Amino acid sequence: MENNITKNDLNVVISFLKKNPILTQSKKVELFEKKWSKWIGVKYSVFVNSGSSANFITLAAVKNKIGKGNIVVPPLTWPSDIMSVINNNLEPNFADINLKTLSLDADEVIRATNKNTKAVFMTHAQGFNGLNKKLLNFLKKKKIILIEDVCESHGATHKNKKLGSFGLVSNFSFYYAHHLSTIEGGMICTNDKNIYDFCIRFRGHGMLRESKFKDVLKKSKNYKDLNEKFIFLNPGFNFRNNEIGATIGINQLKRLDRNIQLRNNNFKFFLKNLNENIFFKNYDLNGISNYAFPIILKNRSLIYRNKFEEYLDKNKIEFRRGNAGGGNQLRQPYLKNLIKKSKLNKNFPNVEIVHFYGYYIGNYPSLKKSKIKKIVNILNSFK
Ligand SMILES: Cc1ncc(COP(=O)(O)O)c(C=O)c1O
Repeated sequence: MENNITKNDLNVVISFLKKNPILTQSKKVELFEKKWSKWIGVKYSVFVNSGSSANFITLAAVKNKIGKGNIVVPPLTWPSDIMSVINNNLEPNFADINLKTLSLDADEVIRATNKNTKAVFMTHAQGFNGLNKKLLNFLKKKKIILIEDVCESHGATHKNKKLGSFGLVSNFSFYYAHHLSTIEGGMICTNDKNIYDFCIRFRGHGMLRESKFKDVLKKSKNYKDLNEKFIFLNPGFNFRNNEIGATIGINQLKRLDRNIQLRNNNFKFFLKNLNENIFFKNYDLNGISNYAFPIILKNRSLIYRNKFEEYLDKNKIEFRRGNAGGGNQLRQPYLKNLIKKSKLNKNFPNVEIVHFYGYYIGNYPSLKKSKIKKIVNILNSFK
């Protein structure tokens, strides 16, 4: 991967700093939130200090809305998606992915759903679109909430509409190699006033005065024994970002569409040249915004796989096995004492394929075709 923060971003920050501005959350954060909302196509956005914070606040808001219930999540995701469900006293229900999108499979979601299922927390993995008509119709019919994790897929679309604008709430990460990077950072998006209000307060210690709405602020009258500037209406923490992150974000938004195009061109070129006898190539490219090049070996032997990894190391091709979050989360130690033993069964064949035989290697806007060709030639020459 490559650092997405350019010299130009740094120069913009330097010019901003020369004005001796406020650096904690202020006007630039608000402006970035407005511009991001417009880019995604939602009413409200909340800029926070990471994608995992966005996950956690989102599940706190969903918990506040639904009370109890289970949430369908993929075992192939970032750990914070699952931890956010558990740490908000909700139950995860796992469902397998579709290899074509590396994201939750509609039929498997339907299979994993029961009468206590209140939401589906879709991770749009690696720039793929995890949504389709079947899934959206099912959720609508069953009145199940959709939450979208778009941390790896900024700008990906379903039916020409940006991901992150379909769910009740959606999350983005602006970490190092993501499509847009604010050093550290994340965004929560929604069209729902109550969810927005909850999230914006949760980000700021749960304080009433963080609200943007007069009808909410008026509630201070109900607490005559409290100073109206210090009413902690609901639990919360400090998940704020700052003016420097927002300044970088605003500047990067200007080149985001172009960067997405470059990343997609890179991926399509990579895939076109990849040998289909060795590697799975049947991805669904509709609406993609590629994050990294996914690779899945067709030969499912561990000896073969180990040799492949030695070969990559020898040829100095950096890789991550297991894709997002290192593969099957149900194999990770953090979950062992957190969920019922019966839920730890690893019977998700597609997730297991990616766990043992799936990889990603870096993609970034400045990656040259000649370098991609070189990488593909090395991959295709593996015997
Ligand atoms: C799908 C997904 N969700 C959440 C996160 C967490 O984001 P962050 O690293 O900004 O906390 C990541 C991290 O890259 C991710 O890939």
